[in-house]
Amino acid sequence: MKDETIFITGAGSGMGQLAARTYAEQGYQVAAVDVNEKGLLETAENHQNIRTFNTDVTDFAAVQQVVDETEAKIGPIRRVYNAAAIMPLGKVVDQDVEVFHKVMDINYNGVVNVSKAVMPKLLERNSGELVNFASLAGWVPILYMAAYNASKFAVVAFTEVLAHEHQDSHVKVLCVCPPPVKTPLLDQARDTVWPKVFDQGDQIEPQDVLNAISQAIADDELFVFPGKRTRMGQRMRRWFPGLIWKNVHETEGF
Ligand SMILES: NC(=O)c1ccc[n+]([C@@H]2O[C@H](COP(=O)([O-])OP(=O)(O)OC[C@H]3O[C@@H](n4cnc5c(N)ncnc54)[C@H](O)[C@@H]3O)[C@@H](O)[C@H]2O)c1
Repeated sequence: MKDETIFITGAGSGMGQLAARTYAEQGYQVAAVDVNEKGLLETAENHQNIRTFNTDVTDFAAVQQVVDETEAKIGPIRRVYNAAAIMPLGKVVDQDVEVFHKVMDINYNGVVNVSKAVMPKLLERNSGELVNFASLAGWVPILYMAAYNASKFAVVAFTEVLAHEHQDSHVKVLCVCPPPVKTPLLDQARDTVWPKVFDQGDQIEPQDVLNAISQAIADDELFVFPGKRTRMGQRMRRWFPGLIWKNVHETEGF
């Protein structure tokens, strides 16, 4: 059993869950954080080296406590996956203001909270990796996604600055920007509004994202764009934003 710990938020579902189980099977200690109790039980099933924490990433004091407890009782945190998020969609005028605040609080402030709690420990040891989950939606805004887009643009900016502030250290900071991935997160779009443009590309597998992260850590890259056409999507937005919006309007019908 390795004595290094992998700290994962959003570990009760989707990519966080897959990452937790994969690292546990590789012999790492895993601290699995989520508010989804049932999901956490599923994650830890048959894995004695996964410790679960029912902790809300929006609560900085609780996050700091779970990070400290992990370091004291499980072992030094080697790698962090900040994967907790929500994705309710809708037009700005149709979504309650509370939804905007909640999306920002979980998707962005949650990443800030965990980064703030863990980075000092990684920097002190001058080793480790902080992997923040943004999205292709952190680069390409589309209809119905104002709340989610804004939260992911914020994660991109925050993570880029953090990475550059510590570019001379051996702590690696990564920002993952996947296209739609086959996880339960997409059900939140199905339950609210499903943008038709989501049907224009393939949804990739959670494992593809985890593989791309491992490769990016090995290659010392800040931004990770899993999937064949993802990087192109990001560049298209940069060079031809009008073309992207034309397609979005035509596809969504307004
Ligand atoms: N699935 C996609 O299409 C996709 C695409 C691009 C980026 N992402 C990003 O990848 C990451 C992982 O997403 P996923 O697809 O595995 O999602 P998922 O919905 O399967 O899992 C997200 C987990 O976060 C947890 N969570 C929500 N609020 C929380 C809180 N306040 N505190 C702690 N945990 C909380 C949920 O309970 C859930 O278990 C997210 O940051 C997501 O935005 C997903």
